[in-house]
Amino acid sequence: AELERLAADLRTAETAVAFTGAGISAPSGVPTFRGDDGVWEAFDEGQFTYDRFQRDPAGFWADRVELHRTMFDAEYEPNAAHDALAELNRDGHLEAILTQNTDGLHAKAATAARGNDSDGDDSSDGRESVEEAAEFSARETILELHGNARRVRCSDCGRREPMEPIVERAEDGELPPTCGCGGTYKPDVVLFGERLPETVLQRARSLARESDVFLAIGSSLVVEPAASLPRTAASNEATVGIVNLESTPVDSVADSCLQEDVTTALPRLQELVELS
Ligand code: OAD
Repeated sequence: AELERLAADLRTAETAVAFTGAGISAPSGVPTFRGDDGVWEAFDEGQFTYDRFQRDPAGFWADRVELHRTMFDAEYEPNAAHDALAELNRDGHLEAILTQNTDGLHAKAATAARGNDSDGDDSSDGRESVEEAAEFSARETILELHGNARRVRCSDCGRREPMEPIVERAEDGELPPTCGCGGTYKPDVVLFGERLPETVLQRARSLARESDVFLAIGSSLVVEPAASLPRTAASNEATVGIVNLESTPVDSVADSCLQEDVTTALPRLQELVELS
């Protein structure tokens, strides 16, 4: 019944926004950060700070390669939950998908939902396509608040490259890996102690303020801005729905809390929205 109410709210919403965290990618095999099997049990968060990247880029990259191999070991694919959101977005029921995830799976699901023909040009690696992918995320309605771990960016000239070849260079002993311009490559993600990109954050905040439905999905909602975006939506009269296996500190301001697996809840929600 809660799902039906949410579906009804989504159907009539003018601006509905989804906000996701690691839990939406867990069924694709990507590890989450917190909890017993979380990445921060095996790795020390303190090794991945912006400060360390600046002080000790070689040590940072040595550890980052290990983290990368743990988190992105396989060719992960979007799951039914990513697909459901991509289809709701494509069909005009979701204004935007805001994500804390850096795995790029929302963009991949969006491409699939749009019939793989985003631009016709699909030259798989090389610089053009990475830049294009970066722009694709910005242009489309997917906002990657923490960046994208499939790319690196030169900290001097800003050039972007796919992550995999750079990780291989680091594994072959190039520590830290550097750009042709001499600058050090940095994963194209927000590190601890680093500010979120201002334009993306502003857009996320204004979407949260404008939304009349705000869905928080697969996030523990304990770090910023995750903790405050749904609160902002709630204090602006939005209907707030939370889909997460465990309870969160934001549950008290939410209108409905579904403690369910994302891969069952979201396809059902989508079906209910599109059915009527
Ligand atoms: P967390 O690992 O903190 O939380 C993931 C949540 O997803 C947990 O509350 C799980 O209960 C839930 N979950 C797991 N599998 C699920 C499933 N199949 N269906 C529904 N829920 C499920 O991840 P985030 O909240 O995304 O930041 O973490 C936020 C940020 O903290 C990350 O972006 C990262 C991290 O440190 C940076 O790296 C900057």
